[in-house]
Formats: sequence, structure tokens, C-alpha cells
Amino acid sequence: MKKIPFILANWKLNGNLLLIKQTLIRLNKERNFLKKLKIAIAPPIIYLSEAQKYIYDNKNIYLAAQNVDAHISGPFTGEISAYMLQEFGIKYVIIGHAERRQFHYEDYKVITKKFLILKQYNLIPVLCIGELYKDYANKEIRNICIKQINPILDVLGIESFKRTIIAYEPIWAIGTGKTPSPEYIQNAHLCIRSYLSQYDDSIAKNVVLQYGGSVNANNVLKILLQSDVDGILLGKSSIHLNEFLSILRIVSNFL
Ligand code: PGA
Repeated sequence: MKKIPFILANWKLNGNLLLIKQTLIRLNKERNFLKKLKIAIAPPIIYLSEAQKYIYDNKNIYLAAQNVDAHISGPFTGEISAYMLQEFGIKYVIIGHAERRQFHYEDYKVITKKFLILKQYNLIPVLCIGELYKDYANKEIRNICIKQINPILDVLGIESFKRTIIAYEPIWAIGTGKTPSPEYIQNAHLCIRSYLSQYDDSIAKNVVLQYGGSVNANNVLKILLQSDVDGILLGKSSIHLNEFLSILRIVSNFL
């Protein structure tokens, strides 16, 4: 049986105080209808404490952070620690996003440190991996994904993939309106799962695999119906409230 679909809204550097309030008020209103889904909102960090006021005893609506520092405290101007996120009841933290790898020069060493620190503070990492267009064209997907998973496997072992989410996001699909075919997405997810299953079959089965990159109301179902796709990481279409809600309704209606 498929897992409960996990839809994570990554607002990136978008949104405002009003949008976070409106989004959570609407989600709370529709919570009965949406109870078949697991939903997390990752607004810019400054909005998390306001957002927290709208998270009641919800079993299916959570908050996520878009980033965390690799240290817990000290002289690291501008950073936020796993401890601080935990204090605010944050459950999921995105790490390794292509935009952080590209614009903030985060490499596998930093990403591995962040992964470790999240584990230590019992936060759930959403580890983003994915290939460039040239690697897609050269059918390098398997190698690229393995290359991005291996540093964590090598240092922290397969056990660290318990309570972990891997978001497969082809870099060329992020924010471009282009997506690979659903079959390609299925194959990529299967590659990741079977690679992990060489280490531990049950961890591989339980790891949540999300797809991200230009998902919208028109393509969400086709992607989510693929057998190894357990969830969706939404960017652009999560910051337009009506579009976001219609995606959630489409998925919920189908279940
Ligand atoms: P997008 O972003 O949906 O705007 O393509 C997805 C992401 O970067 O997580």
C-alpha cells in the first residue's frame, strides 16, 4: 500500500505575514477534507513563529524550515540552529536544495553536517538531490543521485535514513515549467529506493521519496500516482493560495 502522500510547500524567499496566516487558516478550515494528506509549510524562517500559532493539535499539518546551520551555537552571523527550530516545534528541515548548493556554495560536507545535526535534534531532514539537464540527457541520473546520497551513507550509515525524506528534484525542472515524464520520475525514484535497499530493505521501503520541480495542478496526480513517489515538494505553486489549495484538493479527492 502507498504511504500517506506528503506535500511540502517550499515558499523560498516569497510570501508575507498575511499569506502565512491566510494559508494556515484555510488549511485548518479544510482539515477534515485534507486529513488524508500530510502537509508541511516551509515559509521564510521569520514567519515560523507566527505560523506556529495556527498549528493546533493537527495530526497532518506541520511546519518546516528551509534551512539550518551546521552548528548549534557560536559566531555564525545570520544563521539558525537545529536547537532553535526544535524549540519552535518545527518538524521538517530542507537541506541540500539545489538553490543552496548553487547560490550558497553548500557542498556535500556541509550538507552531511547539517543532516547529522538534524538527526541529533530529532528533526526530519528533507534531503534534496537531483541532476543537471546535461546529466539527464546523458542518462546519468542513477550515478548523480548515488553521488549525492553516498557522503551521508558513508559517514552516518543507512540507519540515518530512518525517518528521512529524500526529495528528488531535477535541477533543470526547478522553477522552469518543465518536468520529466512520470515514467522517468518513477524510474528515478525506483533507482534511489533500490540503491538504499542494497543496504537495508526495510529502511529503503519506509524512506519517503518526494518529487519536486514544476509541479502544478495539471501534473500532480500523474506524478503522485507513480508507485515509488510518496510525496511532492512544491515551490512556485505553493505561494498562490488558490492554486496550492486546488493541488491539495485534487490529491485528496483522488484518495
Ligand atoms: P518549483 O520549485 O515547484 O517552483 O519548481 C520546487 C523546489 O525548488 O522545491
